[in-house]
Amino acid sequence: MIITVTLNAAIDKSLAVPNFRLGRRHRTVDQRTMAGGKGVNIARTLKALGQPVIATGFAGGATGTHIVEQLTEESILNDFVRIREESRTNTSVLDPTTGEQTEINERGPAVTEQEVELFRDKLIYLARGAAIVVFAGSLPRGVEPELYASLVRDLERMELTTVVDTDGEPLRQAVRAEPDVVSPNVLEAEELVGHEFASEEDRSVAVREIAALGAREAIMTLPDGCFAQVLVDGQSRLKRARIEPREPVAKRGSGDAFLAGYLAARYEGRPVDHCLRFGVACGAESTGRLGAGLIDPREARRLMGDVELSLVELPAEVG
Ligand SMILES: Nc1ncnc2c1ncn2[C@@H]1O[C@H](COP(=O)(O)OP(=O)(O)OP(=O)(O)O)[C@@H](O)[C@H]1O
Ligand SMILES: [Mg+2]
Repeated sequence: MIITVTLNAAIDKSLAVPNFRLGRRHRTVDQRTMAGGKGVNIARTLKALGQPVIATGFAGGATGTHIVEQLTEESILNDFVRIREESRTNTSVLDPTTGEQTEINERGPAVTEQEVELFRDKLIYLARGAAIVVFAGSLPRGVEPELYASLVRDLERMELTTVVDTDGEPLRQAVRAEPDVVSPNVLEAEELVGHEFASEEDRSVAVREIAALGAREAIMTLPDGCFAQVLVDGQSRLKRARIEPREPVAKRGSGDAFLAGYLAARYEGRPVDHCLRFGVACGAESTGRLGAGLIDPREARRLMGDVELSLVELPAEVG
């Protein structure tokens, strides 16, 4: 079983609005409402890929009820802690004429200490039947930035793989708790290592730095694939996976699809190269769809053939 944790779950409203202009009145030509938040998106993709998954996290108020109902309607197993404050709705406007996407994320509920402890208990209980636990997305208001780090530590003694996909201070702290995998995008990785990347070499060095901070494996995604410091037969190796970038319909959630693909393949016990190829293919496939986490598994498998993989040799050791 794979558990996905979404502490800031949401209802995601995606609107397609041609010629979107500020200060004007518009009509949508397409719209879709789905349960969202990164962990929920990852659960959706894992389910589509045929993997056993339970989505957990916090859900509050009428929007929280809606999130749980939508998941249940999609046959995604879920077990959320109910909180007093109302879960958020995130709205994204996609202009099909320009491909531009505008996102407005609500502030989201504050969570109390007692609700956090209820969640901790639930997670430890659920994790007993799990092989992988994925923490994804931002933290809700009111919790300490080290929450992911402390949850990763709680799971340390259990024989499972911990994965963290977040940014800022929660990521910085989580990396130090030595999770098995972290998967920042370029911006998140730049923030973590504290400088911008100007070249392929900068990016490779950064991924190795992130692993040196504590993560067993560090994968940095970018629109043309990923850099990954991964373990191959116990040895740390730096790999570069590349795919020809496409004109995306909706880019949002492609990192979530990447991670779901990578973890689905890992869960099946595939070799690392296969896992990276499949992750990149799933990320690429998902850019063709409006709505985060949606994917066509057959098309994703076909795209694996378009992913080029290479081993990166770095000129010198870091630090
Ligand atoms: N334009 C594109 N064409 C093809 N594949 C893409 C494109 N953009 C993203 N991808 C795929 O999606 C993966 C993740 O991309 P990216 O690093 O941009 O995600 P992200 O910023 O984490 O997205 P999000 O957090 O919204 O899910 C990449 O590894 C790649 O496989
Ligand atoms: Mg991401």
